[in-house]
Amino acid sequence: MGSLHVLNHPLIQHKLSYMRADSTSSKDFRELLEEISMLMVYEVTRDLPTKTVQVETPIGPADTQVLAGKKLGLVPILRAGLGMVDGIMKLIPNARIGHIGLYRDPVTLNPVEYYCKLPPDIEERDLIVLDPMLATGGSSSAAIGFIKKRGGTNIKLVCLIAAPEGVARIQEDHPDVEIFVAALDERLNEHGYIVPGLGDAGDRLFGTR
Ligand code: PRP
Ligand code: URA
Repeated sequence: MGSLHVLNHPLIQHKLSYMRADSTSSKDFRELLEEISMLMVYEVTRDLPTKTVQVETPIGPADTQVLAGKKLGLVPILRAGLGMVDGIMKLIPNARIGHIGLYRDPVTLNPVEYYCKLPPDIEERDLIVLDPMLATGGSSSAAIGFIKKRGGTNIKLVCLIAAPEGVARIQEDHPDVEIFVAALDERLNEHGYIVPGLGDAGDRLFGTR
């Protein structure tokens, strides 16, 4: 089963509290999501392999570490996953970005696909799937399924808030995928929203509610 990491760093939790508040503006919500994503990726990339290289400092030669492993790819799930890209790209500017467009049917709660464009060399990359909300898990599970169908193998899922139902779904459908979240909330309500959550992430991010 893929492990679940809850990143309860005080800075992440502080910023998440403001994101949850209904009174937070779209502008602040966007900025906070970018900042939290940047903080989370520090932990998500903790196990990236490094290799030793020699550089010349002004004083003399130094053996130092640089990243050695596969190239990275980010795959935000549209729309809300887009809000996590910029913060991460500040730390990993050479990552390639794929996009998967999915929306959740409001009645069935099943994901409906409307777009998929991934880097051509996806099988050579370590991939990080981004979506702030892991509710039923249907959207993230489908996105990971698309990536695997196109040859992606080494996949991590990074979400802001998860419901236990969503975590269980990913662990069952994709036991090879590690999950990183800033908070594991209580449950889903009858409309499939995370309780207490933060409401509709896409609408709050883009001011469409
Ligand atoms: C939201 C969210 C996830 C999905 C989570 O997207 O950003 O993609 O719901 O729900 P699930 O785990 O039950 O699938 P939404 O369908 O509202 O689309 P949007 O990002 O375009 O607003
Ligand atoms: N999608 C959201 O944006 N929020 C939820 O709580 C559940 C699904």
